[in-house]
Amino acid sequence: MPDRPAARKLFIRTYGCQMNVYDSERMAEALGGQGYVLTDAPEGADLVLLNTCHIREKASEKLYSDLGRLKPLKAANPDLRIGVAGCVAQAEGEEIIARMPLVDLVVGPQSYHRLPEMERQVRAGARVVDTEFPAEDKFEVLKDRPKAARGPTAFLTVQEGCDKFCAFCVVPYTRGAEASRPADRILSEARGLVEAGVREITLLGQNVNAWHGAMSGDRQGFAALIAALARIDGLERIRYTTSHPGDMDDALIAAHGAEAKLMPYLHLPVQSGSDRILKAMNRKHTAEAYLRIVERLRAARPDILLSSDFIVAFPGESEADFEATLDLIRAVGFGSAFSFKYSPRPGTPAAEKAELPPEVADDRLQRLQALMTAQQRDAQQAMVGRETTVLFEKPGRLAGQMVGKSEHMHAVHVAGPDNLRGQIRKVRIVEAGPNSLAGTVAD
Ligand code: SAH
Ligand code: SF4
Ligand code: F3S
Repeated sequence: MPDRPAARKLFIRTYGCQMNVYDSERMAEALGGQGYVLTDAPEGADLVLLNTCHIREKASEKLYSDLGRLKPLKAANPDLRIGVAGCVAQAEGEEIIARMPLVDLVVGPQSYHRLPEMERQVRAGARVVDTEFPAEDKFEVLKDRPKAARGPTAFLTVQEGCDKFCAFCVVPYTRGAEASRPADRILSEARGLVEAGVREITLLGQNVNAWHGAMSGDRQGFAALIAALARIDGLERIRYTTSHPGDMDDALIAAHGAEAKLMPYLHLPVQSGSDRILKAMNRKHTAEAYLRIVERLRAARPDILLSSDFIVAFPGESEADFEATLDLIRAVGFGSAFSFKYSPRPGTPAAEKAELPPEVADDRLQRLQALMTAQQRDAQQAMVGRETTVLFEKPGRLAGQMVGKSEHMHAVHVAGPDNLRGQIRKVRIVEAGPNSLAGTVAD
């Protein structure tokens, strides 16, 4: 028999949100104990995991087209094992196994700590599905994170799941109920990341600002967690995503003024500017309430840049409702935004309602995006001539170029040496392009 190679190769494709990016890292770490090392292509891999997203129809369809593309690999290598993880795995479970004979393993977002055991079973020829919401916390089961050196930025999940039940959204079903990780675990993971070279941490949660936990014996909210993280030496920048307007409490708004390490950028999805539609969406806030939060955030941190998510053509959205969304966008002045055509999702209340004609949805998306493109350009243009700090992350596309993120999340490139990577430097912005800024190191 030929010798087995010492390291087996794991390929993970990640779809969807930042939490999936974090989960993919944790899955790779969990399988590292079985001798797997990451590889950057499915060709030649021993195990392929597709970490999927169910948020819109297009997102979940990608799974099936990508699985189709893996067929020849599986035909050529019967030892290849294929797993589906993430939110489509949670939503469709057994159906995936029934529909796709090449899939060996289906694992939901709350049970991937069981991957090492599942991997042994599929190696032995079984097909396994685990979409439980187990009582044990996956992060407590997974061992401490490996101490290997890291890049300058990292994600850290502090809260998971959602109890908000917006009428259009699958997340409460795929990620389960809101749960906060304990503060001491978050702080020790953050310290470990900083020791490994991380200077900026983005705290993650589906409702990250709903985080709560015991700290020094008391029940504390998200602002207290940020304050505790800010005391970690060597951690220079803190960001968080994604927040619900209903959980922007006074302490968190004040933290934007008080915590120098908290970056002046906030993704705060509003979805619509029409109170009638917000109500139908079960968002539990009005347009006015959102505008008040923005006002208070700006009072706390005048240069804060805001971004948002929008859904156009939600069932029942009239032209007047849509214009109310455009009005809200004009009133706030966003630095960036993501906008989507409404996509009916199985099992959600909104999916029972009649959809708007596709040409109406297309037209509204286009108009909203035109307005947003203009606002984004203005926000980028406003940076020209200003000094900002940039955390450099990687080489740019052109030789001798380095790219990083400004405090306000702008991509900034400068001419500079590779050793800028990981450094936070003052940069004078000299030019604004549509998606990035160019500057010169000024210190
Ligand atoms: N937890 C985040 C949102 C996660 S989903 C939050 O509450 O902000 C990211 C975005 O996808 C949402 O903000 C929403 O704008 C969009 N989205 C969610 N479900 C959708 C659907 N059914 N159709 C279209 N867009 C949707
Ligand atoms: Fe989905 Fe609403 Fe929960 Fe966000 S708050 S994850 S949009 S249900
Ligand atoms: Fe998608 Fe699940 Fe994230 S549905 S957006 S991967 S929480």
